[in-house]
Amino acid sequence: MHVALLANLKKNAPTWPGMSPDYWDDLDSEETIEAISAALTAGGHRVTFLEGDATLYDTLRQTKPDICFNICEGHFGDSREAQAPALLEMLRLPYTGSRVLTLALALDKPMTKRVLTYHDLPTPPFQTFERVNEPLDPALKFPLFVKPSREGTGMGVSAESIVHNEEQLRSQVQRTFERYHQPALVEHYIEGREVTVGVVGNLTGPVARRMPDDESAPRILRGLDLLPPLEVNMAAYPEEEAGIYTSRIKVELAHEFHYLCPAPLTESQIEDLNWYTAATFRVIGCCDVARVDFRLDASDNDRPYILEVNPLPGLNPGYSDLCLEATAYGWSYEELVNRILDEAIKRYGLKK
Ligand SMILES: Nc1ncnc2c1ncn2[C@@H]1O[C@H](COP(=O)(O)OP(=O)(O)O)[C@@H](O)[C@H]1O
Ligand SMILES: [Mg+2]
Repeated sequence: MHVALLANLKKNAPTWPGMSPDYWDDLDSEETIEAISAALTAGGHRVTFLEGDATLYDTLRQTKPDICFNICEGHFGDSREAQAPALLEMLRLPYTGSRVLTLALALDKPMTKRVLTYHDLPTPPFQTFERVNEPLDPALKFPLFVKPSREGTGMGVSAESIVHNEEQLRSQVQRTFERYHQPALVEHYIEGREVTVGVVGNLTGPVARRMPDDESAPRILRGLDLLPPLEVNMAAYPEEEAGIYTSRIKVELAHEFHYLCPAPLTESQIEDLNWYTAATFRVIGCCDVARVDFRLDASDNDRPYILEVNPLPGLNPGYSDLCLEATAYGWSYEELVNRILDEAIKRYGLKK
């Protein structure tokens, strides 16, 4: 098939004086684009890379691909990850991965948490701040964690995100506003291990809309490949990162990533994580691929909490979590990339 690979390359991104140095940290490198391209070519496809900016409308109409492999993060706007898919739907072109609503939803962490909470899925209790002096919900207990509502790749996340009193809270909320110009998400700080679970596929068969109240009800995971959980080995990082998966670790130290995969967890812990991952995938409406980030609460028997869902997980062959998990699962990078494409091909009922 003729596959258009749609992405936003860091080197093509716009720049302006005084922009924050981490502004484009979640965009892709040429290394990643070349690797995906090579994998799809090895899968028997013809690949054309297209930059996912405003030129896309014209380039897609010229290229006329059979399907798009979409990993566009977008540049501007609070639904930026949904922009390329919206255009693809307008042009009636099939594409890999989640659709417009899911991509817009998952970029907004508080909105995602509202959906998770509605479905009784465990996510830390939270409050959003749009003003520095908003009264703190008395149900929230320190220490709290402050992060931007709509960023990724550890942006706006550092040791200072952990706040122990109102004064620290207000100043971190203020800093988040100044730097990211968006509401701050304030939630319970979960002290404990950091685990992420990747998933490829699509749920088949009936799935409950809400989680079954009955703990013994069957857990429906059919159609999904749940990859072995990856644990970030926080102990291996400098103390000033404070056990947080910061932008420094994700970007500057990405090439010396310390992780355990499969994470040393019991079978029943993995079963629970898989179930929460599948349920999150379902209720957020993901397609083909996703990664769900967890923290295990050390003060409560390693009880898992969902931090966020990533419907566009990084695909750098060398260090992205999903790729390391695929390796531990016995899939080559080529296989991972072609599985994602094949899931979309199947979903649209296309013929290879
Ligand atoms: N409530 C929390 N308690 C403890 N650590 C947190 C919490 N929320 C985020 N973190 C830390 O910050 C990191 C980044 O947060 P996350 O919500 O996954 O955003 P993103 O990966 O999009 O930057 C997490 O991997 C974790 O280390
Ligand atoms: Mg994360």
